[in-house]
Amino acid sequence: MRITALRADPAGHAAPLLALPVLEGGDQDAAFTALDQALGGQLAALRTRGDLRGTMGEAVLFFPAAGAVPAERVLLVGVGKPADLTAERLRRAAGSAAKQAAKSRAASVAFALPASVIADRVAVRAVAEGLVLGAYEFREMKSADDSKPAPVSVDEAAILLPEGADAGEAAEGARVGEIVARAENLARTLGNLPGNVATPAYLAQTAERIAGERGLRVTILGPEEMRAEGMGALLAVAQGSEQEPRLIVLEHRGGAEGDKPLVIVGKGLTFDAGGISIKPAAGMEDMKFDMCGGAATLAAMQAIAELNVPMNVVGIVPSSENLLGGAAMKPGDILRAHGGKTIEVVNTDAEGRLILADAISYAKRFDPAAMLDAATLTGACVVALGHAATGVMGNDQALVDEVLAAGEATGERCWQLPMFDDYREQIKSDYADIKNSGGRAGGAITAGWFLREFVGDWPWVHLDVAGTAYGDGKVSYLTKGGTGVPTRIFVEWVMGRAAAAEAPSA
Ligand code: BES
Ligand code: MN
Ligand code: ZN
Repeated sequence: MRITALRADPAGHAAPLLALPVLEGGDQDAAFTALDQALGGQLAALRTRGDLRGTMGEAVLFFPAAGAVPAERVLLVGVGKPADLTAERLRRAAGSAAKQAAKSRAASVAFALPASVIADRVAVRAVAEGLVLGAYEFREMKSADDSKPAPVSVDEAAILLPEGADAGEAAEGARVGEIVARAENLARTLGNLPGNVATPAYLAQTAERIAGERGLRVTILGPEEMRAEGMGALLAVAQGSEQEPRLIVLEHRGGAEGDKPLVIVGKGLTFDAGGISIKPAAGMEDMKFDMCGGAATLAAMQAIAELNVPMNVVGIVPSSENLLGGAAMKPGDILRAHGGKTIEVVNTDAEGRLILADAISYAKRFDPAAMLDAATLTGACVVALGHAATGVMGNDQALVDEVLAAGEATGERCWQLPMFDDYREQIKSDYADIKNSGGRAGGAITAGWFLREFVGDWPWVHLDVAGTAYGDGKVSYLTKGGTGVPTRIFVEWVMGRAAAAEAPSA
């Protein structure tokens, strides 16, 4: 989507669809007042009648009389009370605008940014993200329907700035927002693609494409290289499948030569049937989303490269299927992971932590300054937090706080779970160094503890995105399926680190 941010009066701006945020309560924005005046008080009348309240989520499509204003349609989008206005509310309002544009078959949309206390760059970035995310559709697997007019792609947007806005800051916000949201849409597509298409080899090809386009270094390990590395856990998960596993490594060298990199790791389990500890059939199709952590990692690396963030960043995606072939690992099997630790497999469905163990251990060779991992790791996390927040845990509270802050800033909300030592007891094994499941109690946390055993002392935070990486599409800028979470967190965290490194130290 081509997005421009410009100072313009919405009442005088020509567009097939003009989105105007409406506040809840008395006072309206100058843009609203001006447009209302041009429309002869029709907007004020809507408010008086109670047809336009400005509550969050409200959207009223209005057709101005010919010649009244240059806009063909006006979408009045509620954003709630002025004091409650956040970047996420703007993102959602922009998402509604993009979706209505698509419905109205308008290829271009204008969004009138309300004057607010939110910084221009932040506000415009959120709107740009909402527009790009809201315009997303997953059409890859549908045949063209000749009986209907071809769908219109919303590919152009103007963000109309209020008086006094800083045009330079706004342009930067639009640029960053477009790059981040386009990357997140890639993560959504990778998530939505079915397991028979988005295989480990497909994710590896995608990484190679991104690397070629954006100048990243790419390394792909196959079974042969994994054996040489001693990646007995990732190989064991893959051995029940005909699809070969891949370990994907993307490197962005934006920082100084010797600077320790930030490392992000994402679970790329392209289909999780559970293995011999097979899952129930109902809902199993959703297990194509078990690679969403890996998808967000590839997407974030694309955005980080495009933004040319002045940091060294490494993205690592262990990728495999978890099936039930004759060679599949069995409950009771003991594996030797990368780095030498032995793992007793008590449940073959706890496979994510196995492939991540090898990837995390492999990551240490980069001598990371800090490491994040994201994985659709446990159903227990969904039970604990539902779909409203990503579960976060780590071995370094300052780093956990960075991730929580990035979650708030980007609208990808996180909630910290405790890592009390007590939970560690549950994954002690009688036969090996560790076992891969601690049972149902505290399942998200015992999974976190399992990963932590492979991290050692490196600063590390784990994001369990099982409840947030895909959803029902009720959020205005999303559709049913992949959400792209935590692409925005990954990018925000890396950008935050870059900003902190640039700032003169106090
Ligand atoms: N991929 C699943 C976790 C999951 C569940 C993601 C629901 C999204 C929605 C993971 O591999 C898994 O199967 N975890 C098991 C662990 C258990 C066997 C210890 C689980 O959560 O049941
Ligand atoms: Mn599983
Ligand atoms: Zn899984």
